[in-house]
Amino acid sequence: MSEVTLNYGNILRPRLDGSEGVDPDRLAPGGELATRFATALRELRQREEAGELGFLELPDNETLSRQVLEVADSFGQWFENLVVVGIGGSSLGGRAVAEALLGPHWNEDSDEARDHFPRLYFLENADPDSTAALLDRLDLRRTLFNVVSKSGGTAETLAQFMVIEEALEAELGEEGVRGHLLFTTDPEEGALRALAREREIPALPVPPNVGGRFSVLSPVGLLPAAATGVDVEALLNGAREMRDRCLNPDLSRNPAGLLAVLLHAADTDLGRSVHVFMPYADRLRALALWYQQLWGESLGKRLPEGGREAGVGPTPLPALGAVDQHSLLQLLMEGPQDKVVVFLRVARRERPLAIPRTHQDKAALAYLGGHTLEELLDTELRATVEALRLEGRPSLTLEVEALDAHALGALFMLWQVTTVLAGSLYGVNPLNQPGVELGKGLTSGLLGREGIARPALEPDDGHWTA
Ligand code: PA5
Repeated sequence: MSEVTLNYGNILRPRLDGSEGVDPDRLAPGGELATRFATALRELRQREEAGELGFLELPDNETLSRQVLEVADSFGQWFENLVVVGIGGSSLGGRAVAEALLGPHWNEDSDEARDHFPRLYFLENADPDSTAALLDRLDLRRTLFNVVSKSGGTAETLAQFMVIEEALEAELGEEGVRGHLLFTTDPEEGALRALAREREIPALPVPPNVGGRFSVLSPVGLLPAAATGVDVEALLNGAREMRDRCLNPDLSRNPAGLLAVLLHAADTDLGRSVHVFMPYADRLRALALWYQQLWGESLGKRLPEGGREAGVGPTPLPALGAVDQHSLLQLLMEGPQDKVVVFLRVARRERPLAIPRTHQDKAALAYLGGHTLEELLDTELRATVEALRLEGRPSLTLEVEALDAHALGALFMLWQVTTVLAGSLYGVNPLNQPGVELGKGLTSGLLGREGIARPALEPDDGHWTA
């Protein structure tokens, strides 16, 4: 069982240079941040009681997880390929699980190395190049397509589905299509649910009170996990244990509370509105993308009473250590004082990988020999944290003991609760995304959707062409 730790000393004033950073007294009982947190937690509890925070209940929903496992089992290991078709919250969580727990070369591994579980692909963008290329290379007779859309009405996903359906039909005939489709969607509403009923296509439910970017622990993220042999129970256990910690009214013992108040204070009090999330593990690159969507789409909002100028919210920036030390770090160290970094450290690797003691006559190589790649990465992380601190630039560091399903479940839950608390601190509703609707409406109008007026787009009157 792996634990998660949050180190936050490097965002506090005493460890920075005295003028930057959050005054720790504000976190103490009765302090301003402790009071803000108490209000945010109270609001979270109210939303929970009103049944709005379905993601909190997912770790306890045994009926749902059993259903996922049964569906995954029913396909057995017959399919060579599983393709998840979905976008945004219907893709990123599943991708984060797969990248973290299946490792980088799952699809290249032999059947034996994958224990005969299917290869796993994500078709997220309605980009014809990637869609056509994937359909060309897969044996459709051995492929299952899991079409995921909470609303059942997302243009990109439905269009991909239509393309896939036609390709399946061409390969397998009309009768053969159904056996290669699975839907994951709202239990009652939407075009996908209607189609599932009409055609008797198997369909997993996403609880109505679980929104896209909060759905990773629902069938949206669990099905691809279960179908590839991930320990779903450990994922949910990690999430459950973390949820209970994140509901603790004592701020000093609540990691989501600390993360939320400190990141919110970094933005609103210290002017640090760019929130970098930088895991030091290749396998967590997709987790950083998942965080980007969760943090950005949940918190980037217009205040309820405000006009166009009343927009709030941090700008999330996903990064990867140590790769981005050779890309973003210069900006983080010396650029505008508008950033705070949340590092993520994995304390123990599966394979530390020793660096051999070769080239002892060359100083540039000799000092590396005898260490491990794990040590090198970890030392780089510690050095980067310290370098930022010496420049008076704040950071926080999350740590997991090991990168396993339990820890990953805990990280998902931690960020989700943090996001809801941060929503209260910013004074916005973290569960909706009204700003996305305008673009969606214009797209469907332009493509001629019935009942939606075709908009006249303002021509761009400034352009250059060679
Ligand atoms: O978080 C959200 O709600 C969105 O990012 C959705 O996940 C995304 O728009 C896809 O929506 P749907 O799952 O309804 O197809």
